Amino acid sequence: MKNIILTGDRPTGKLHIGHYVGSLRRRVELQNSGKYDEIYVMIADAQALTDNFDNPDKVRANITEVALDYLACGLDPNKCTIFVQSHVEQLTELTFYYMNLVTLARLERNPTVKAELKQKNFGLSIPMGFLTYPVSQTADITAFKATTVPVGEDQLPMLEQAREIVRSFNGLYGETLVEPKAVLPENKSCLRLPGTDGMAKMSKSLGNCIYLSDSADEIKRKVMSMYTDPNHLKVTDPGNTKDNPTFIYLDAFSSDEHFARYLPEYANLDEMKAHYERGGLGDMKVKKFLNAVLQETLEPIRAKREELAKDIPAVWAMLKEGSKKAREVAGNTLAEVKKAMKIDYFVE
Ligand code: TRP
Repeated sequence: MKNIILTGDRPTGKLHIGHYVGSLRRRVELQNSGKYDEIYVMIADAQALTDNFDNPDKVRANITEVALDYLACGLDPNKCTIFVQSHVEQLTELTFYYMNLVTLARLERNPTVKAELKQKNFGLSIPMGFLTYPVSQTADITAFKATTVPVGEDQLPMLEQAREIVRSFNGLYGETLVEPKAVLPENKSCLRLPGTDGMAKMSKSLGNCIYLSDSADEIKRKVMSMYTDPNHLKVTDPGNTKDNPTFIYLDAFSSDEHFARYLPEYANLDEMKAHYERGGLGDMKVKKFLNAVLQETLEPIRAKREELAKDIPAVWAMLKEGSKKAREVAGNTLAEVKKAMKIDYFVE
């Protein structure tokens, strides 16, 4: 069996460093590992519209932003197919058939959907499109026969749902679809990077994100005003590194080489953490080091992004090409699905 990756993001904003450590960085590694036969990266505009249907301009504008972020991070259209979800109409058709295999109660039990419904305050007026997006996500994954889906932790319920649908489809209509597995970041701090304000999640509406496109000054300003340990008032006070976003970011980004380059008094992060916990290490010093690490990591991404942004038509041409290829692959799966469901009436 082939090793196939499918993953994607909703184009509702520029991508931030949470996306980077949670999934993007890994995707680029997997892309370059040579271990995968096919890799598909999807800009999930149709899914973004399930809760932004009243704001198509936002979704449209962010397709460009997300594509730029992808390319700037090192996704390479020669090695992977980057495409736009709405332009692979077979996905919608698959969704319709899969909906027969899922109950309303099951969708309402999905913990990620449940949390989102609560947060959006839909009350009893839940748009059907929104509630069924896990089914459409199953179509995205299965259309490409993906075996591997590199995602953040919040997507695990979607993968569980996808596996259930695949099992019931194959059970009813015969072995047709492939059961996917999720791949999460190995480093626990990368699972969900907190906001710069210490809130559990980076979110545009909270204004607590560091974007891949932020200027050097913006990064510095955001790092220097980060939330740390509120009880670490004096440098000499013992500090907490566990719920401290500066240390969580260092967990996600720093390496021993960074210490050798910018802070050679510590051999590694463990030594620095031990000093902070014992007392005697000030937040300023931690932040300066974090800033140096982030600047070093993000500078080449930003530079590449600026270069790519000079030719937006080329970015759209790449997406158009990728969408064409994706349509062919999804079309083949759809034909198999229709055959399995015995609705291939007019096939010669
Ligand atoms: N739900 C994902 C997100 O919020 C985007 C997405 C849509 C996706 N379809 C997918 C991710 C299929 C992985 C596989 O970012």
